[in-house]
Amino acid sequence: MKIDISTVSYEEAKNLIKKLRHTIQHHNYLYYTRNEPKILDREYDQMFQDLIALEKKFPSLVTPDSPSQRVGASPLKEFKTVQHKIPMLSLGNAFNNENLINFDKRIQKELKTETFQYVTELKMDGLAVSIRYENGVLVQGATRGNGISGEDVSLNVKTIKNIPLKLFGNTIPPVIEVRGEIIMYKKDFEELNKGRKKNGGSPFANPRNAAAGSLRQLDSRITAQRKLQMISYGIGEVEGISFKTHFEILEYLKKLGFKTSPEAALCNGINEIIERCEYYKNHKNDYPFEADGIVIKVNEIALQKKLGATSHEPRWAIAYKFPSEEAETTVKNIIVQVGRTGILTPVAVFDPVELEGSTISRATLHNEDQIKRLDIRINDNIVVRKAGSVIPEVVRVLKEKRPQNTQPFKIPDKCPVCGGLAVRFEGESATRCINVSCPAQVKERIIHFASRNAMDIDALGDKIINQLVDKKIISDYSDLYYLKKEDLLKLERMGEILAEKILRNIQRSKNKNLSNLIYALGIFQVGKYTANLVAKTFKSIDALKAATEDEILAIEGIGPITAESVKKFFSSKQNIGILKKLKTADIKMEKKEIKTQNLLLKKEKIVFTGTLKNFSRGEAQDIIKNLGGETLETVTKATTIVVAGEKPGSKYKKAKAFGIKIISEDEFKKLIAGGKI
Ligand code: IVH
Repeated sequence: MKIDISTVSYEEAKNLIKKLRHTIQHHNYLYYTRNEPKILDREYDQMFQDLIALEKKFPSLVTPDSPSQRVGASPLKEFKTVQHKIPMLSLGNAFNNENLINFDKRIQKELKTETFQYVTELKMDGLAVSIRYENGVLVQGATRGNGISGEDVSLNVKTIKNIPLKLFGNTIPPVIEVRGEIIMYKKDFEELNKGRKKNGGSPFANPRNAAAGSLRQLDSRITAQRKLQMISYGIGEVEGISFKTHFEILEYLKKLGFKTSPEAALCNGINEIIERCEYYKNHKNDYPFEADGIVIKVNEIALQKKLGATSHEPRWAIAYKFPSEEAETTVKNIIVQVGRTGILTPVAVFDPVELEGSTISRATLHNEDQIKRLDIRINDNIVVRKAGSVIPEVVRVLKEKRPQNTQPFKIPDKCPVCGGLAVRFEGESATRCINVSCPAQVKERIIHFASRNAMDIDALGDKIINQLVDKKIISDYSDLYYLKKEDLLKLERMGEILAEKILRNIQRSKNKNLSNLIYALGIFQVGKYTANLVAKTFKSIDALKAATEDEILAIEGIGPITAESVKKFFSSKQNIGILKKLKTADIKMEKKEIKTQNLLLKKEKIVFTGTLKNFSRGEAQDIIKNLGGETLETVTKATTIVVAGEKPGSKYKKAKAFGIKIISEDEFKKLIAGGKI
């Protein structure tokens, strides 16, 4: 359904919003909780867009349980504290069958009976939360904290797609606190780390840290971008409903719209529990998330009450921890790898050992701090295991077995790949090579340089850059400006037309704004926003190069690490060499001064649709910005001009419907040249 928002009245909007929220909530549930999507992503997105547009038009209709509220909100200064009316307890641990047998014996003795049931559930490895609903609406989300009080992470939990903002069903209690674990699926964890590494960030050590780090963000918009999930396993405070068994609670939570611990099972007696533990142990790697054990709970609530709890843990439940296999080996070497973003990662290379079905011979040591913590040295005897059954890690060094004459290991201050400067900036755990022509990073550097927000070299995609580097045609981004047609024609799937187009776009990029160039250089910590600030103050690359750290720091919005990073960038002889090559190739290295009387497009709000022949989108946007105008992504009533390129899309129809002025690309050219249209 595509709604024409402009004609919708308040009353109609009220109904439409209600219907849309209900449908979106239903499909959210099918997608995120049941894993059984019934509509196309495109259809879902359309409904979501319609809802946002309606709520934008009638802001008084926005309610806290609307799916539109899942995008996160402005950052908080700090989390408020939440007191848990019913404490969030921890669990005692069992590591072997004997521990389990003793647990069962204790309970039998206390209850003076053998005829009761247990429930076994997977123990998810994430962080515990309590989500409070009043009259079916999510009002608060809190972390476990110390069990008595936690942090108010309400804005963050609202962004998690499989947590209902409003409970499902007809029997909604006036108050219910749903307790469970916030986790990140293994595949989402890997994807997140891949992205972080690509952007030069440091990866999370395991899914649990990723989940905790993502949830406890003061800026809930960051949480909204992370793929978190909640799996519920119990309740806290509740009013208006009571339960006979724990299993009943799990069934009820499912009805309210929650995902509950998969494979929860009823067990009679300790032998069945031991069997069950064996089963889970053999299947622990089959689950999409990391499970670090099994929780065994007495099923009947009356019996749970009878057994009670200590100040830390209930007497009616225990966690059986999966044993993690460990092995002893000897460190043969510690090597330092350089990733595509320049981060130096130390890796321990050891005598191969067999662990959980595979042979491992190396483990990442992450960074300098981890090396110091372990005090790991070449020739040391170490204990290794697979963290979360996947990633090999060094658990500890057997210092009592350390041979004589070992030396503490130091992270080099020169990049092992290119010999350039390797720097560890304050507050960072990573050490990075800052030479932009370092062969380990060169592809990433060039891809970033050519990207839309940087030099915007359209048609020069990742695949072409990879080939150019692999074939040794270019070895840093400045080489792009020395490319010839015959160089490009050596590449696969390259014809005359595409080669000419790329060369034209490379030429055109020479005149990009100074802020684009500064961003394109790929200075650590200098994103688009900072590049803009720097360009405004220094007005040329030469002035920036000559600036002192204090002068850079004096810019409002720039901190000491960025200032140090800029200074270090210009102290690298390799980087200076590349800047010279850029200058020789005639790249504009000064700020374009915009004369105010030239603000031809002041007050214009312009939308593009279809393909432009003569400009890339980014370029057209820059031109509009320089002439005082604004580009918008979607057509709204506020749009003043729509530029229609080849094959215009739905924006064209919308503009027509709204009666907005539509011009061709040629007319746009005339317009920016100062002509009338
Ligand atoms: S029940 C009063 N069930 O494990 C009982 N906990 O080590 C409270 N956990 O803080 C916990 N999966 O965060 C329970 N199926 C499950 C669980 C589970 C993971 C976590 C929970 C708890 C920690 C205790």
